[in-house]
Amino acid sequence: MTTTLPDLQDWRFTVDFEGIAWAIIDREGESMNALGRRPTEELADIVMAVEQAASTGAVKGFVLMSAKERSFIAGADIREFEDFDTEPKIEEVVKQTLELFNRVDRLPVPVVAAIHGYCLGGGLELALACDWRIADREEATRLGFPEVKLGIFPGLNGTVRAIQAAGPTDAMTAMLTGRMLRPAAAKAIGLIDQLVPTRHNLRWAARKAVLQNRRSPGAPWWKRLMLKQPVRGLLAKQMRAKTAEKVREEHYPAPFRLIDLFERYGNDPVRMRIAETELFTPLMASEASRNLRRVFKLSEMLKDEAPKNGFKPRRVHVIGAGTMGGDIAAWCVVQGMEASLQDLDETQIAKALARAKGLFKRQLRTPLAVETAIARLIPDPSGKHVKLADVVIEAIVEKLDVKQSLFRKLEKEVKPGAVLATNTSSLRLEDIAKPLADPGRLVGLHFFNPVAQLPLVEVVRGAATREEEVRKACAFVTAINKLPLIVKSCPGFLVNRVLAPYMMEAVRRYQLGEPREKIDQAALKFGMPMGPLELMDMVGLDIANHVGEELDLASAGDNVLAALVKQGKLGKKTGEGFYVWEQGKPKREQVAYDQAELERLGRELVKPMLDEAERALVDRVVATEDHVDAGVIFGTGFAPFRGGPLHYRRKDAQAAATAAA
Ligand code: NAI
Repeated sequence: MTTTLPDLQDWRFTVDFEGIAWAIIDREGESMNALGRRPTEELADIVMAVEQAASTGAVKGFVLMSAKERSFIAGADIREFEDFDTEPKIEEVVKQTLELFNRVDRLPVPVVAAIHGYCLGGGLELALACDWRIADREEATRLGFPEVKLGIFPGLNGTVRAIQAAGPTDAMTAMLTGRMLRPAAAKAIGLIDQLVPTRHNLRWAARKAVLQNRRSPGAPWWKRLMLKQPVRGLLAKQMRAKTAEKVREEHYPAPFRLIDLFERYGNDPVRMRIAETELFTPLMASEASRNLRRVFKLSEMLKDEAPKNGFKPRRVHVIGAGTMGGDIAAWCVVQGMEASLQDLDETQIAKALARAKGLFKRQLRTPLAVETAIARLIPDPSGKHVKLADVVIEAIVEKLDVKQSLFRKLEKEVKPGAVLATNTSSLRLEDIAKPLADPGRLVGLHFFNPVAQLPLVEVVRGAATREEEVRKACAFVTAINKLPLIVKSCPGFLVNRVLAPYMMEAVRRYQLGEPREKIDQAALKFGMPMGPLELMDMVGLDIANHVGEELDLASAGDNVLAALVKQGKLGKKTGEGFYVWEQGKPKREQVAYDQAELERLGRELVKPMLDEAERALVDRVVATEDHVDAGVIFGTGFAPFRGGPLHYRRKDAQAAATAAA
């Protein structure tokens, strides 16, 4: 017998000759599956058909799968979130979806989720409502709860079901960190019941699971014991302390509310379900969550700068194996490329290779992956690989004539179509390109230090640079898993231009007598990831001072920063800067400052940054206001929950106007 539902657009539904109902999600016109209104409504129709067929015995089991290459269901459809702007609206949608998931849970026949690709957020919550979960071990398959990154937590009873499946510690860790798990890790903690080697094994395994009436046993007894008091209370206390090491409750309340929920109702699924919705709804409606969703969209916007089906770089050649070049080459290798590394000084190459090995060990999972990465990073002192490279990046000394003569030579050697890029931070692209026969070819790829940690790369468009080269450079940046921001060739581009006045304001305050600890604490209170004085110490005071001078900041050159540089106190690398550094950490005085004071100082410190962000927009350093916000968030770590400097300033002005009215 074969049954179909005719009107489906995002799902396919069939019942096969053995009485197994198959629902395959394949959202129309999308590369990824996300749960939005239409796929959810269609799933409700499917579930109703299964309920009816199950009641007559026409269906023996139900399997949920996906037809997409890379996703089972990658979460809720974030594009639709904006429609849910009030708590009652959110509550209504949540209740409907919850009821649907509960109907899946209550089906009298075995229900199997057969998972390939991303199974995240609401997708994982749906899988948890099934009786049995099978995942393949393919590289594309990942499971997790990324909700905290959006300022919420799982709100479709995923908190309750995850704890029932994986026990409190593992489930809460997964939800609190938002980390994506590989299939084997998800199986080890109990989120998955069965693994198969590839996606081609999923159908057969799902069929067998239905015919054998497999039901997940849930967390073992010893894990469930931890739900009882006083253990649960102790666990909650530990979780709170660990979370507080990473984020502040005032900025990121979601993980703390999740811990509250667990602490109060962890052992009472019925009440926990009700309380989950009660706590979820205000989080979802909050300004912080809205801003974090905005940050997610901004990252998607930057990724979209790269053309989808064009340039596919595989080989990169980097010239200059110093701080930047060595780390750029190593990062490309971690992301699967082959990189050759050239330098006049072979000891620099050797040092870069040693550093790269450390990175590979941290970033890659298996010794084999580390070995193959080492093999893909090729020392090339004489530049033999230039002609093979799809992308050539120059990261040598910041001297115009040296760069010019290098590019003159490179232009003759590179293959047609290869990207020719400079990592310069302060020279004019137009000057570097001057001696080239084809100056339209040169683009800037401005990486940030440390390369492995900062997600942004500025793609610099010189006056003559061709659009095609800019787009190819963006494709390269996304291929190495970074976010490209297209910027105009101008001093400081966007990020340094906006960051420098903030740094100089911190220096000025310090000079006026504010304690360094107070300045740094004020920035943290505002939501910056690190205080400005500590950050300058990390970057190197010589570099920070140089940037200030380049940008012609009024106080630069004649301040405490310049004085420290003159004394050879360059920050972490020399053991002293604004702070004395011991064992890689700044020595700080433990002083508790008044919170309102810190709040005020924090706002004053970032003010020059906001002013500069506005000027950069006026000067069209980047295309739009959103690009300014994206660049400043991903390039400086600017308090993500505030949605970006320009967004924050606008909201702040609106709030002030409302308060005054
Ligand atoms: P670095 O001094 O650490 O390394 C430069 C390397 O280039 C040295 O190993 C040197 O031996 C080599 N070199 C010099 N001339 C060469 C030539 N003609 N051919 C081959 N190798 C040559 O410098 P760093 O800090 O890595 O900077 C490199 C470039 O990156 C500069 O243009 C700088 O403005 C830019 N940059 C630096 C950042 C930083 O934080 N250090 C951040 C972003 C960009």
